[in-house]
Amino acid sequence: NSLHDFIRGLPKAELHLHIEGSLEPEMMFELAGKNGVSLPYASVEEVRAAYDFEDLQSFLNLYYAGAAVLQTEQDFFDLTHAYIQRARADHVCHVELFFDPQTHTERGIAIETVFSGIARALREAKAAYGFSGSMILCFLRHLSEESALSTLEAALPLRDAYADVWTGVGLDSAEVGNPPEKFAHVFTIAQAMGFRLVAHAGEEGPPAYIHSALDVLEVERIDHGVRAEEDPALMQRLKTSRIPLTVCPLSNLKLCVVKDLREHNLARMLRDGLCVTINSDDPAYFGGYMNANFIATADALQLSREELVQLARNSFEASFVSDAQKKIWY
Ligand code: ADE
Ligand code: ZN
Repeated sequence: NSLHDFIRGLPKAELHLHIEGSLEPEMMFELAGKNGVSLPYASVEEVRAAYDFEDLQSFLNLYYAGAAVLQTEQDFFDLTHAYIQRARADHVCHVELFFDPQTHTERGIAIETVFSGIARALREAKAAYGFSGSMILCFLRHLSEESALSTLEAALPLRDAYADVWTGVGLDSAEVGNPPEKFAHVFTIAQAMGFRLVAHAGEEGPPAYIHSALDVLEVERIDHGVRAEEDPALMQRLKTSRIPLTVCPLSNLKLCVVKDLREHNLARMLRDGLCVTINSDDPAYFGGYMNANFIATADALQLSREELVQLARNSFEASFVSDAQKKIWY
């Protein structure tokens, strides 16, 4: 299929990727054995069979349990290194990856262990093949704002040592019942410190959460945002401002945000002029990395080559790199 080859060869940026969500069952087993962590599965096949989700929470339960095998600096390096190899194979040349320090510090892992392993893989990839990458620290919204504040405080001493890679903060985990405004204070502090801001909003939560992510947290991108379509005024706002949406089609399918990819609103929003991007979210859990997401979406929604190029261009436009670097990429 020549359209699929066209997609594979397109240079693209990935802006919505949870590094813990790139933990493949094979590595999960390997690390569990090495670190003496017991898993409630007998085999890799059993793990994959358990990836049958009914909503975001049913996924998060397995995702947090799986992340418990990550313990050493080398584990975080290996995880990130493996993701980068897959990204490069998909012609991803830039990633702004999410990481969830609270998932690890709550288990007694030092926050510097997490930073160091991820950053070392990003830096090595930059030196070895010019692969560009940065880190967005995400707060878990099912936890309190005090916990988010202590996490930011614990990370601050690392800021200078990781200034080349740590560019932003974000908000993820269980959305409904945990609105953006719960984190108003910590986002105000992060903004004052010069961090770039993003938040998950409008994945399972209502359009009102997208409004408050923009108005209260003042985020620069919305992660997911697919429920924006229920609010015409919000759609108009996203279109005029070109606030990007980092959409994750296979994630939406696996978490039953949409019943069928053919019903996904990505093409409608793109054709309406919104700055929509395609991303993989948690590729080890949702059945595919970047190109799998592009190909499944292109097939289901009959995207044209021009639209696929627009999606790739949007991913660079929406990235947090300098304008000079953007000019080089598109
Ligand atoms: N953490 C990892 N993936 C997520 C998603 N799709 N939504 C919210 N939190 C997440
Ligand atoms: Zn996500």
